[in-house]
Amino acid sequence: MTNIIFVCLGNICRSPMAEFILKDMAEKAGLSDRFHIESAAVSTEEYGNPVYPPARRKLAEHGIGCTGKTARQLRREDYERFDLIIGMDAGNLRGIRRICGGDPADKVRLLLDYAGRPGQEVADPWYTGDFEAAWRDIEAGCRGLLEEIAHG
Ligand code: 4NP
Repeated sequence: MTNIIFVCLGNICRSPMAEFILKDMAEKAGLSDRFHIESAAVSTEEYGNPVYPPARRKLAEHGIGCTGKTARQLRREDYERFDLIIGMDAGNLRGIRRICGGDPADKVRLLLDYAGRPGQEVADPWYTGDFEAAWRDIEAGCRGLLEEIAHG
């Protein structure tokens, strides 16, 4: 079992998209029982809010639901519960390390590391409104991550 938590600033756009895209990919690959997948925020800004409607619509275009997900903040104890803590941008990584007290077990990654684009950040739709660009980046990262865990 690989325990994965995706992290972004608000937990209403990028990280829930990654959570539900990877769950869908794992299910389609018959690998659901190999994964436990969640998502969380570094901020408290959107605490308790559902997935942002444009992000929800982008998932729905691809037949992916996200019903019931509400934003929560990353907690220090998540560092022990998860094997991989995957941020969307450099600011997320700073927030993860602040909340978790560093990264002593080397669990923190950027999503696009798995897309062959190390150090790059997922296109942030909050400021651009471009949820298609976010979808492409997140889909590529999740595909590489699934590949690495399934066959790596
Ligand atoms: P997310 O998007 O981090 O991808 O969920 C954002 C959501 C909320 C805010 C920023 C980004 N905000 O500033 O409230």
